[in-house]
Amino acid sequence: MTHLTVYHEDDPGLPELATGDPVVLVGHLAMTGILFERWSATHPVSQDADSAAILSAYAPDVERLCANRGYRSVDVARVVSGSDNIGTLRAMFLDEHTHGEDEARFFVEGSGAFYLHLDQRVFRIVCEAGDLLSIPGGTRHWFDMGPTPHFTAIRFFTHPDGWRAVPTGSGIAARFPGYDGSIDRTR
Ligand SMILES: [Fe+2]
Repeated sequence: MTHLTVYHEDDPGLPELATGDPVVLVGHLAMTGILFERWSATHPVSQDADSAAILSAYAPDVERLCANRGYRSVDVARVVSGSDNIGTLRAMFLDEHTHGEDEARFFVEGSGAFYLHLDQRVFRIVCEAGDLLSIPGGTRHWFDMGPTPHFTAIRFFTHPDGWRAVPTGSGIAARFPGYDGSIDRTR
């Protein structure tokens, strides 16, 4: 189940809120201006579905989001543990950074943890299949796919050349609990 944990930036050991209640979760994220939605496929998607089949299954929501947010391209990214470069790939997103455009992801399968640094708080959102999260450009954040990553995600881009990560150099991410792949481990 999707899970939200909210911390003060100076106290990663004592969450102010930890919830898997979708109503509470959506309400808290809405107050921050972060877009979070739950999507359902229009028809079943097989485990080995190719990108076209995946995009077809979520076409109404994909098209609506692109129209509403101005996203001009999408792709489907698959990450599975066992790949040679998995440690490098995980490390690429583990430090706090920003982007010049939104980071919008829809999880078709698997899971991963986003950490959003909003004012003096850190929102840790463990996303799973069916979750759409859009992080506005300029938002300080990081992402942990866990030590044994497994997810398939639809990615949305405003510019055809994709997005670039700009490190903040704050070091804050190292002070917060990582993601071990378990939805229930929130502290
Ligand atoms: Fe990012």
